[in-house]
Amino acid sequence: MLSKRKIWLNGSFVPWSKATVHLMSHSFTRGSAIFEVMSVHPTPRGPAVFRLDDHLGRLQNSAKLIDMPLPLSLRALHNAALATVAENRLDRGIVKLICYYGGVEFEVIPNQKTVSVAVVAANPARDLGTAYYAGRAPARAAVSRWRKYHPQTVPIHCKAAGNYLSPMLAKQEVRERGFDIPIMLDTQGFIAEGATESLFLVKNRRIQTAPLSLVLPGITRRSVIEVARRLGYTVLEKKMPRAELFRADEAFYTSTSQKVWPIASIEKKKLPAPGPVTAQLLEAFQKITAGQDPRFRKWLAVVKR
Ligand SMILES: Cc1ncc(COP(=O)(O)O)c(C=O)c1O
Repeated sequence: MLSKRKIWLNGSFVPWSKATVHLMSHSFTRGSAIFEVMSVHPTPRGPAVFRLDDHLGRLQNSAKLIDMPLPLSLRALHNAALATVAENRLDRGIVKLICYYGGVEFEVIPNQKTVSVAVVAANPARDLGTAYYAGRAPARAAVSRWRKYHPQTVPIHCKAAGNYLSPMLAKQEVRERGFDIPIMLDTQGFIAEGATESLFLVKNRRIQTAPLSLVLPGITRRSVIEVARRLGYTVLEKKMPRAELFRADEAFYTSTSQKVWPIASIEKKKLPAPGPVTAQLLEAFQKITAGQDPRFRKWLAVVKR
């Protein structure tokens, strides 16, 4: 149950119900909180956080992009994440680390630059009483009418709460049309990504994804590219017109919560889910996250109990 979870807040653990902010805090009213969501997996050496330090590197970059002074070193954040998993006796699930301006502000800028840090660890499948994160069916995707933010309007590499209004609208829109996850195009019409997922297409066994100039640098995206190249696949990061969606042999999303998520259809076009390339990547990631592939154990930060 979520209410039994402990949240790490600025250096100590507090009960779930006590981890609150003021309604007039800058991060609540202006969306300035930055965050990372990481996955936790059971491994033979104990529960492990997937690519913890890479997530923290992205967090540090998000902070730089909005000029937010992080109050703790990356080492301290690393320790806080592992301590929160241990405190909550989590063996699988997610850790969410949030940095925010908790001070009351009336202006659009945070005049008080005091940053709070919170770390939440939960098992959504168990704590929310749903199978939301476990064994999801292949995704039904559709192109949304909402476009990704143009990189000259907001820093799109910044994982800030305020950047999530457009994915929220896109996902709401395609859900209403009977699909699961949007495919978002950039403002010029090139294929970008999902709502909170990176997107990959496979054509003639070549794997393609949008370049980093258009999308968030997904940690899973980067991991899939590395694993696929090691498996001998050619992976291209390139701008793709929308028509390529309908020429693909296979497609999949990647994200922290799902890792490799096969796409069963893009609007009316049906796809094998998983297709052979996607299936190979799925299997590789199951082994990697379970700590069964020695080449990638470096990606697992094990929680000491
Ligand atoms: C916009 C966006 N793209 C892609 C992703 C996938 O990134 P990751 O693999 O790091 O979870 C996310 C994750 O939340 C996201 O918000």
